[in-house]
Amino acid sequence: MKKPIEGFSKLSKEEKINWIAHNYTHDSADTIEILKQYWSNDSKLQQLHDEFIENTISNFYLPLGIAPNFLINDILYAIPMAIEESSVVAAASKAAKFWLNRGGFKTSIIGTEKVGQVHFMYQGDTAKLMRFFNKVKPELIAKVAPIIKNMEKRGGGINNIELRDKSADLANYHQLHCTFETLDAMGANFINSCLESFAETLKEEALRYSEFTESEKRIEIVMSILSNNIPNCLVRAEVSCPIGDLKEHHNISAMEFAQKMVRAVAIAKVEPYRAVTHNKGIMNGVDAVVLATGNDFRAIEAGAHAYASKDGKYSSLTHASIEGDIFKFWIEIPLALGTVGGLTSLHPLVKIALEILQRPTAKELMQIVAAAGLAQNFGALRSLITTGIQQGHMKMHLLNILNQLGATTSEKETLISHFKKHTASHSAVVTAFENLRKQK
Ligand code: MEV
Repeated sequence: MKKPIEGFSKLSKEEKINWIAHNYTHDSADTIEILKQYWSNDSKLQQLHDEFIENTISNFYLPLGIAPNFLINDILYAIPMAIEESSVVAAASKAAKFWLNRGGFKTSIIGTEKVGQVHFMYQGDTAKLMRFFNKVKPELIAKVAPIIKNMEKRGGGINNIELRDKSADLANYHQLHCTFETLDAMGANFINSCLESFAETLKEEALRYSEFTESEKRIEIVMSILSNNIPNCLVRAEVSCPIGDLKEHHNISAMEFAQKMVRAVAIAKVEPYRAVTHNKGIMNGVDAVVLATGNDFRAIEAGAHAYASKDGKYSSLTHASIEGDIFKFWIEIPLALGTVGGLTSLHPLVKIALEILQRPTAKELMQIVAAAGLAQNFGALRSLITTGIQQGHMKMHLLNILNQLGATTSEKETLISHFKKHTASHSAVVTAFENLRKQK
Protein backbone atom coordinates (compact mmCIF):
# COMPACT_ATOMS: atom_id res chain seq x y z
CA MET A 1 0.00 0.00 0.00
CA LYS A 2 1.47 3.34 -1.05
CA LYS A 3 1.31 6.19 1.46
CA PRO A 4 0.73 9.85 0.55
CA ILE A 5 3.59 12.23 1.25
CA GLU A 6 3.47 15.65 2.87
CA GLY A 7 5.86 18.40 1.78
CA PHE A 8 7.39 16.55 -1.18
CA SER A 9 8.34 19.83 -2.83
CA LYS A 10 10.40 20.80 0.23
CA LEU A 11 12.64 17.72 0.00
CA SER A 12 16.04 18.08 -1.62
CA LYS A 13 16.43 16.71 -5.14
CA GLU A 14 18.39 13.76 -3.74
CA GLU A 15 15.63 13.02 -1.22
CA LYS A 16 12.95 13.25 -3.90
CA ILE A 17 14.81 10.77 -6.08
CA ASN A 18 15.32 8.37 -3.19
CA TRP A 19 11.67 8.59 -2.20
CA ILE A 20 10.32 7.99 -5.71
CA ALA A 21 12.81 5.23 -6.47
CA HIS A 22 12.18 3.35 -3.23
CA ASN A 23 8.43 3.75 -3.21
CA TYR A 24 7.52 3.40 -6.87
CA THR A 25 10.18 1.35 -8.67
CA HIS A 26 11.40 -2.24 -8.36
CA ASP A 27 15.11 -1.64 -8.69
CA SER A 28 15.70 1.59 -6.82
CA ALA A 29 19.48 1.60 -7.29
CA ASP A 30 19.06 1.26 -11.04
CA THR A 31 16.37 3.97 -11.13
CA ILE A 32 18.58 6.37 -9.20
CA GLU A 33 21.53 5.69 -11.47
CA ILE A 34 19.48 6.25 -14.64
CA LEU A 35 17.86 9.42 -13.34
CA LYS A 36 21.30 10.80 -12.53
CA GLN A 37 22.73 9.75 -15.88
CA TYR A 38 20.46 12.34 -17.43
CA TRP A 39 21.68 15.18 -15.24
CA SER A 40 23.89 17.69 -16.94
CA ASN A 41 27.54 17.79 -15.86
CA ASP A 42 27.28 21.55 -16.05
CA SER A 43 25.77 22.43 -12.68
CA LYS A 44 24.55 25.86 -13.86
CA LEU A 45 22.73 24.29 -16.78
CA GLN A 46 21.25 21.66 -14.51
CA GLN A 47 20.07 24.31 -12.09
CA LEU A 48 18.39 26.14 -14.96
CA HIS A 49 16.47 22.97 -15.82
CA ASP A 50 15.72 22.21 -12.19
CA GLU A 51 14.09 25.60 -11.86
CA PHE A 52 11.88 25.38 -14.96
CA ILE A 53 9.37 23.34 -12.98
CA GLU A 54 8.70 22.09 -9.48
CA ASN A 55 9.97 18.75 -8.18
CA THR A 56 12.54 18.22 -10.95
CA ILE A 57 14.33 14.90 -10.56
CA SER A 58 16.04 14.62 -13.94
CA ASN A 59 15.93 15.84 -17.53
CA PHE A 60 13.82 14.19 -20.20
CA TYR A 61 15.70 14.34 -23.49
CA LEU A 62 14.14 14.50 -26.93
CA PRO A 63 16.27 14.37 -30.06
CA LEU A 64 16.78 17.72 -31.77
CA GLY A 65 17.01 17.21 -35.53
CA ILE A 66 17.34 19.46 -38.55
CA ALA A 67 15.17 19.44 -41.64
CA PRO A 68 17.18 21.42 -44.22
CA ASN A 69 16.23 22.87 -47.61
CA PHE A 70 12.98 24.60 -46.66
CA LEU A 71 12.53 27.38 -49.20
CA ILE A 72 9.96 29.71 -47.67
CA ASN A 73 9.13 32.94 -49.50
CA ASP A 74 12.47 32.56 -51.31
CA ILE A 75 14.48 32.33 -48.08
CA LEU A 76 16.25 29.05 -47.41
CA TYR A 77 15.75 27.68 -43.90
CA ALA A 78 17.14 24.70 -42.01
CA ILE A 79 14.41 23.91 -39.50
CA PRO A 80 15.21 22.57 -36.02
CA MET A 81 12.74 19.95 -34.83
CA ALA A 82 12.50 18.36 -31.38
CA ILE A 83 10.64 15.07 -31.68
CA GLU A 84 10.91 11.41 -30.76
CA GLU A 85 9.01 9.88 -33.71
CA SER A 86 11.55 8.26 -36.05
CA SER A 87 10.23 9.27 -39.44
CA VAL A 88 9.16 12.90 -38.88
CA VAL A 89 12.40 14.78 -39.59
CA ALA A 90 13.16 12.49 -42.53
CA ALA A 91 9.69 13.10 -44.00
CA ALA A 92 9.93 16.88 -43.51
CA SER A 93 13.37 16.97 -45.13
CA LYS A 94 12.19 14.90 -48.06
CA ALA A 95 9.13 17.09 -48.62
CA ALA A 96 11.22 20.26 -48.30
CA LYS A 97 13.64 18.99 -50.93
CA PHE A 98 10.78 18.03 -53.21
CA TRP A 99 9.35 21.56 -53.11
CA LEU A 100 12.78 23.23 -53.21
CA ASN A 101 12.90 22.64 -56.94
CA ARG A 102 9.27 23.54 -57.46
CA GLY A 103 9.15 27.11 -56.13
CA GLY A 104 9.19 26.32 -52.41
CA PHE A 105 6.59 27.36 -49.85
CA LYS A 106 4.68 30.61 -50.15
CA THR A 107 3.36 31.80 -46.83
CA SER A 108 1.39 34.75 -45.52
CA ILE A 109 -0.01 36.01 -42.24
CA ILE A 110 -3.79 36.33 -42.22
CA GLY A 111 -4.03 37.76 -38.70
CA THR A 112 -2.23 38.01 -35.36
CA GLU A 113 -5.10 38.67 -32.97
CA LYS A 114 -4.94 37.03 -29.54
CA VAL A 115 -7.94 36.55 -27.28
CA GLY A 116 -8.65 36.64 -23.56
CA GLN A 117 -11.84 36.64 -21.53
CA VAL A 118 -13.13 37.72 -18.15
CA HIS A 119 -15.95 35.33 -17.27
CA PHE A 120 -18.44 36.72 -14.80
CA MET A 121 -21.94 36.31 -13.44
CA TYR A 122 -24.41 39.18 -13.44
CA GLN A 123 -28.02 38.85 -12.49
CA GLY A 124 -30.06 41.80 -13.63
CA ASP A 125 -31.01 44.07 -16.47
CA THR A 126 -28.72 43.44 -19.47
CA ALA A 127 -29.30 46.91 -20.99
CA LYS A 128 -28.19 48.43 -17.69
CA LEU A 129 -25.06 46.24 -17.72
CA MET A 130 -24.29 47.46 -21.23
CA ARG A 131 -24.60 51.10 -20.13
CA PHE A 132 -22.33 50.35 -17.19
CA PHE A 133 -19.81 48.66 -19.47
CA ASN A 134 -19.73 51.58 -21.92
CA LYS A 135 -19.15 53.96 -19.02
CA VAL A 136 -16.46 51.87 -17.40
CA LYS A 137 -14.58 50.82 -20.57
CA PRO A 138 -12.18 53.82 -20.60
CA GLU A 139 -11.46 53.10 -16.94
CA LEU A 140 -10.68 49.45 -17.71
CA ILE A 141 -8.11 50.59 -20.24
CA ALA A 142 -6.72 53.42 -18.11
CA LYS A 143 -6.03 51.06 -15.21
CA VAL A 144 -3.83 48.75 -17.33
CA ALA A 145 -1.67 51.63 -18.58
CA PRO A 146 1.41 50.51 -16.60
CA ILE A 147 1.02 46.93 -17.90
CA ILE A 148 0.58 47.86 -21.56
CA LYS A 149 3.00 50.80 -21.75
CA ASN A 150 5.93 48.89 -23.25
CA MET A 151 3.78 46.75 -25.51
CA GLU A 152 2.07 49.91 -26.84
CA LYS A 153 5.42 51.57 -27.45
CA ARG A 154 6.28 48.69 -29.76
CA GLY A 155 2.92 48.91 -31.56
CA GLY A 156 0.91 46.29 -29.69
CA GLY A 157 -1.63 46.39 -26.89
CA ILE A 158 -5.36 46.00 -26.47
CA ASN A 159 -7.37 45.84 -29.69
CA ASN A 160 -10.84 45.72 -28.22
CA ILE A 161 -12.94 44.88 -25.19
CA GLU A 162 -16.45 43.68 -25.86
CA LEU A 163 -19.23 42.82 -23.43
CA ARG A 164 -20.92 39.56 -24.37
CA ASP A 165 -24.18 38.33 -22.90
CA LYS A 166 -23.93 34.53 -22.70
CA SER A 167 -26.91 34.08 -20.39
CA ALA A 168 -28.81 32.17 -23.08
CA ASP A 169 -26.14 29.45 -22.77
CA LEU A 170 -25.74 29.57 -19.00
CA ALA A 171 -27.89 31.48 -16.51
CA ASN A 172 -26.38 34.89 -15.63
CA TYR A 173 -23.16 34.21 -17.55
CA HIS A 174 -21.53 37.24 -19.18
CA GLN A 175 -18.03 37.93 -20.36
CA LEU A 176 -15.58 40.58 -21.43
CA HIS A 177 -14.25 39.25 -24.70
CA CYS A 178 -10.93 41.00 -25.23
CA THR A 179 -8.58 40.99 -28.18
CA PHE A 180 -4.88 41.85 -28.14
CA GLU A 181 -1.87 42.37 -30.35
CA THR A 182 1.18 40.94 -28.58
CA LEU A 183 3.73 41.28 -31.41
CA ASP A 184 6.71 38.94 -30.89
CA ALA A 185 5.51 37.67 -27.53
CA MET A 186 3.15 34.72 -27.22
CA GLY A 187 1.52 37.10 -24.78
CA ALA A 188 0.06 34.81 -22.12
CA ASN A 189 1.42 36.81 -19.19
CA PHE A 190 0.59 40.13 -20.78
CA ILE A 191 -2.97 39.06 -21.58
CA ASN A 192 -3.64 37.42 -18.22
CA SER A 193 -2.32 40.48 -16.35
CA CYS A 194 -4.59 42.76 -18.39
CA LEU A 195 -7.58 40.48 -17.83
CA GLU A 196 -7.08 40.28 -14.08
CA SER A 197 -6.91 44.06 -13.96
CA PHE A 198 -10.11 44.38 -16.06
CA ALA A 199 -11.86 41.99 -13.68
CA GLU A 200 -10.78 43.95 -10.62
CA THR A 201 -11.88 47.28 -12.13
CA LEU A 202 -15.18 45.80 -13.30
CA LYS A 203 -15.94 44.50 -9.82
CA GLU A 204 -14.95 47.73 -8.05
CA GLU A 205 -16.76 50.04 -10.45
CA ALA A 206 -19.94 47.94 -10.30
CA LEU A 207 -20.10 48.53 -6.55
CA ARG A 208 -20.06 52.28 -7.24
CA TYR A 209 -22.50 52.31 -10.19
CA SER A 210 -25.59 54.15 -9.02
CA GLU A 211 -27.98 52.68 -11.63
CA PHE A 212 -27.38 49.14 -10.32
CA THR A 213 -29.59 47.68 -7.61
CA GLU A 214 -27.77 46.24 -4.60
CA SER A 215 -27.82 42.74 -6.09
CA GLU A 216 -26.76 43.96 -9.56
CA LYS A 217 -23.75 45.65 -7.96
CA ARG A 218 -22.41 42.28 -6.87
CA ILE A 219 -20.88 41.10 -10.12
CA GLU A 220 -19.25 37.75 -9.48
CA ILE A 221 -15.95 37.32 -11.30
CA VAL A 222 -15.51 33.63 -12.05
CA MET A 223 -12.16 33.72 -13.87
CA SER A 224 -9.92 35.74 -16.14
CA ILE A 225 -7.83 33.84 -18.65
CA LEU A 226 -6.51 33.98 -22.18
CA SER A 227 -8.15 31.75 -24.76
CA ASN A 228 -6.15 29.26 -26.80
CA ASN A 229 -8.86 29.50 -29.41
CA ILE A 230 -7.33 32.09 -31.73
CA PRO A 231 -9.04 31.80 -35.11
CA ASN A 232 -7.76 35.25 -36.10
CA CYS A 233 -4.12 34.53 -35.31
CA LEU A 234 -3.83 32.70 -38.55
CA VAL A 235 -1.17 31.80 -41.08
CA ARG A 236 -1.37 30.28 -44.53
CA ALA A 237 1.32 28.23 -46.26
CA GLU A 238 1.03 26.96 -49.80
CA VAL A 239 2.91 24.93 -52.36
CA SER A 240 1.92 24.64 -55.99
CA CYS A 241 3.34 23.49 -59.29
CA PRO A 242 2.30 22.33 -62.74
CA ILE A 243 0.94 18.81 -62.41
CA GLY A 244 3.59 17.50 -64.79
CA ASP A 245 6.28 18.55 -62.27
CA LEU A 246 4.86 16.20 -59.66
CA LYS A 247 6.26 13.21 -61.48
CA GLU A 248 8.69 11.32 -59.31
CA HIS A 249 9.79 7.76 -59.18
CA HIS A 250 6.39 6.44 -58.06
CA ASN A 251 4.61 3.96 -60.24
CA ILE A 252 1.78 6.37 -60.90
CA SER A 253 1.46 9.23 -63.34
CA ALA A 254 1.75 12.83 -62.18
CA MET A 255 -1.97 13.40 -62.86
CA GLU A 256 -2.96 10.31 -60.92
CA PHE A 257 -0.72 11.41 -58.06
CA ALA A 258 -2.33 14.88 -58.00
CA GLN A 259 -5.82 13.42 -58.10
CA LYS A 260 -5.07 10.95 -55.32
CA MET A 261 -3.62 13.75 -53.17
CA VAL A 262 -6.76 15.84 -53.68
CA ARG A 263 -8.92 12.81 -52.88
CA ALA A 264 -6.91 12.02 -49.74
CA VAL A 265 -7.48 15.56 -48.52
CA ALA A 266 -11.16 15.37 -49.52
CA ILE A 267 -11.55 12.26 -47.35
CA ALA A 268 -9.98 14.08 -44.39
CA LYS A 269 -12.40 16.95 -44.99
CA VAL A 270 -15.52 14.79 -44.70
CA GLU A 271 -14.46 11.98 -42.37
CA PRO A 272 -13.49 13.00 -38.82
CA TYR A 273 -11.82 9.62 -38.08
CA ARG A 274 -9.43 10.29 -40.92
CA ALA A 275 -9.21 14.05 -40.24
CA VAL A 276 -7.88 13.46 -36.73
CA THR A 277 -5.02 11.30 -38.02
CA HIS A 278 -4.43 13.58 -41.00
CA ASN A 279 -4.12 16.57 -38.65
CA LYS A 280 -2.01 14.54 -36.21
CA GLY A 281 0.49 14.14 -39.02
CA ILE A 282 0.46 17.92 -39.57
CA MET A 283 1.04 18.45 -35.85
CA ASN A 284 4.06 16.11 -36.04
CA GLY A 285 5.77 18.87 -37.99
CA VAL A 286 4.18 21.80 -36.18
CA ASP A 287 4.84 20.59 -32.62
CA ALA A 288 8.43 19.61 -33.34
CA VAL A 289 9.31 23.18 -34.37
CA VAL A 290 7.13 24.69 -31.67
CA LEU A 291 8.98 22.63 -29.07
CA ALA A 292 12.43 23.35 -30.49
CA THR A 293 11.69 27.08 -30.38
CA GLY A 294 10.52 26.97 -26.76
CA ASN A 295 6.85 27.54 -27.48
CA ASP A 296 3.82 25.99 -25.83
CA PHE A 297 2.82 23.01 -27.98
CA ARG A 298 -0.28 22.27 -25.86
CA ALA A 299 -1.62 25.74 -26.64
CA ILE A 300 -0.85 25.23 -30.31
CA GLU A 301 -2.52 21.80 -30.34
CA ALA A 302 -5.65 23.07 -28.58
CA GLY A 303 -5.98 26.05 -30.93
CA ALA A 304 -5.34 24.02 -34.07
CA HIS A 305 -7.92 21.35 -33.24
CA ALA A 306 -10.50 23.98 -32.29
CA TYR A 307 -9.88 25.60 -35.66
CA ALA A 308 -10.25 22.23 -37.37
CA SER A 309 -13.77 22.06 -35.89
CA LYS A 310 -14.74 25.65 -36.60
CA ASP A 311 -17.45 24.71 -39.11
CA GLY A 312 -19.18 22.40 -36.65
CA LYS A 313 -17.46 19.20 -37.68
CA TYR A 314 -13.82 18.20 -37.18
CA SER A 315 -12.08 18.49 -40.54
CA SER A 316 -8.76 18.75 -42.36
CA LEU A 317 -6.43 21.68 -41.71
CA THR A 318 -4.99 21.30 -45.20
CA HIS A 319 -6.61 21.75 -48.59
CA ALA A 320 -5.71 20.61 -52.10
CA SER A 321 -6.95 21.47 -55.54
CA ILE A 322 -6.28 20.97 -59.21
CA GLU A 323 -6.98 24.13 -61.18
CA GLY A 324 -6.21 23.73 -64.87
CA ASP A 325 -2.83 22.05 -64.88
CA ILE A 326 -1.79 23.42 -61.50
CA PHE A 327 -1.70 21.33 -58.34
CA LYS A 328 -2.10 23.40 -55.20
CA PHE A 329 -1.75 22.25 -51.61
CA TRP A 330 -2.15 24.57 -48.64
CA ILE A 331 -2.75 24.90 -44.94
CA GLU A 332 -4.45 27.48 -42.80
CA ILE A 333 -3.61 27.12 -39.14
CA PRO A 334 -3.87 29.36 -36.07
CA LEU A 335 -0.51 29.67 -34.30
CA ALA A 336 0.10 31.78 -31.20
CA LEU A 337 3.88 31.81 -31.08
CA GLY A 338 6.51 33.92 -29.41
CA THR A 339 10.11 34.64 -30.24
CA VAL A 340 10.72 36.75 -27.15
CA GLY A 341 9.93 36.01 -23.51
CA GLY A 342 9.22 32.63 -21.98
CA LEU A 343 11.83 29.97 -22.67
CA THR A 344 13.16 31.82 -25.72
CA SER A 345 15.89 33.67 -23.85
CA LEU A 346 16.36 31.03 -21.17
CA HIS A 347 16.81 27.62 -22.73
CA PRO A 348 20.22 27.38 -24.45
CA LEU A 349 18.93 25.00 -27.14
CA VAL A 350 15.94 27.22 -27.85
CA LYS A 351 18.31 30.16 -28.35
CA ILE A 352 20.29 28.11 -30.84
CA ALA A 353 17.13 26.94 -32.61
CA LEU A 354 16.02 30.55 -33.02
CA GLU A 355 19.46 31.53 -34.24
CA ILE A 356 19.38 28.71 -36.81
CA LEU A 357 16.04 30.15 -37.97
CA GLN A 358 17.77 33.54 -38.39
CA ARG A 359 16.13 35.07 -35.31
CA PRO A 360 12.61 35.19 -36.68
CA THR A 361 9.87 37.55 -35.58
CA ALA A 362 6.75 35.79 -34.28
CA LYS A 363 5.15 36.34 -37.70
CA GLU A 364 8.10 34.73 -39.45
CA LEU A 365 8.07 31.81 -37.03
CA MET A 366 4.34 31.31 -37.69
CA GLN A 367 5.15 30.98 -41.39
CA ILE A 368 8.04 28.57 -40.80
CA VAL A 369 5.92 26.38 -38.52
CA ALA A 370 3.02 26.35 -40.98
CA ALA A 371 5.41 25.30 -43.76
CA ALA A 372 6.75 22.48 -41.55
CA GLY A 373 3.18 21.29 -40.89
CA LEU A 374 2.30 21.41 -44.57
CA ALA A 375 5.49 19.56 -45.53
CA GLN A 376 4.73 16.87 -42.99
CA ASN A 377 1.23 16.39 -44.34
CA PHE A 378 2.53 16.30 -47.91
CA GLY A 379 5.08 13.66 -46.92
CA ALA A 380 2.53 11.52 -45.09
CA LEU A 381 -0.06 11.70 -47.87
CA ARG A 382 2.54 11.02 -50.54
CA SER A 383 3.53 7.82 -48.76
CA LEU A 384 -0.03 6.83 -47.95
CA ILE A 385 -1.26 7.11 -51.55
CA THR A 386 1.80 5.45 -53.09
CA THR A 387 3.96 2.98 -51.16
CA GLY A 388 1.98 2.98 -47.90
CA ILE A 389 3.31 4.45 -44.70
CA GLN A 390 5.10 1.42 -43.27
CA GLN A 391 7.92 1.26 -45.79
CA GLY A 392 9.42 4.61 -44.81
CA HIS A 393 8.30 4.37 -41.22
CA MET A 394 9.89 0.98 -40.60
CA LYS A 395 13.08 2.07 -42.33
CA MET A 396 13.38 4.85 -39.79
CA HIS A 397 12.13 2.70 -36.91
CA LEU A 398 14.63 -0.06 -37.70
CA LEU A 399 17.31 1.46 -35.49
CA ASN A 400 14.92 1.68 -32.55
CA ILE A 401 14.12 -2.02 -32.85
CA LEU A 402 17.80 -2.92 -33.19
CA ASN A 403 18.62 -0.81 -30.13
CA GLN A 404 15.84 -2.55 -28.19
CA LEU A 405 17.34 -5.90 -29.18
CA GLY A 406 20.76 -4.75 -28.00
CA ALA A 407 22.40 -5.00 -31.44
CA THR A 408 26.08 -4.06 -31.67
CA THR A 409 27.32 -1.42 -34.12
CA SER A 410 28.44 -4.03 -36.64
CA GLU A 411 25.16 -5.98 -36.28
CA LYS A 412 23.27 -2.74 -36.91
CA GLU A 413 25.32 -2.06 -40.06
CA THR A 414 24.67 -5.57 -41.39
CA LEU A 415 20.94 -5.44 -40.69
CA ILE A 416 20.47 -1.90 -42.01
CA SER A 417 22.01 -2.96 -45.30
CA HIS A 418 19.90 -6.17 -45.26
CA PHE A 419 16.69 -4.17 -44.87
CA LYS A 420 17.57 -1.87 -47.76
CA LYS A 421 16.61 -4.87 -49.90
CA HIS A 422 13.93 -6.45 -47.70
CA THR A 423 10.68 -5.22 -46.18
CA ALA A 424 11.15 -4.34 -42.53
CA SER A 425 8.49 -5.33 -40.01
CA HIS A 426 9.03 -5.83 -36.29
CA SER A 427 9.02 -9.60 -36.56
CA ALA A 428 11.19 -9.59 -39.71
CA VAL A 429 13.80 -7.52 -37.87
CA VAL A 430 13.73 -9.81 -34.82
CA THR A 431 14.10 -12.91 -37.03
CA ALA A 432 16.95 -11.39 -39.05
CA PHE A 433 18.69 -10.35 -35.83
CA GLU A 434 18.34 -13.83 -34.31
CA ASN A 435 19.61 -15.46 -37.51
CA LEU A 436 22.59 -13.15 -37.56
CA ARG A 437 23.46 -14.04 -33.96
CA LYS A 438 23.07 -17.76 -34.74
CA GLN A 439 25.53 -17.47 -37.63
CA LYS A 440 28.22 -16.28 -35.23
C1 MEV B 1 1.96 9.30 -37.99
O1 MEV B 1 2.61 9.90 -36.90
C2 MEV B 1 1.25 10.32 -38.82
C3 MEV B 1 0.40 9.76 -39.97
O2 MEV B 1 -0.52 8.81 -39.46
C4 MEV B 1 -0.31 10.94 -40.58
C5 MEV B 1 -1.34 10.57 -41.63
O3 MEV B 1 -1.89 9.45 -41.57
O4 MEV B 1 -1.63 11.43 -42.45
C6 MEV B 1 1.26 9.06 -40.96
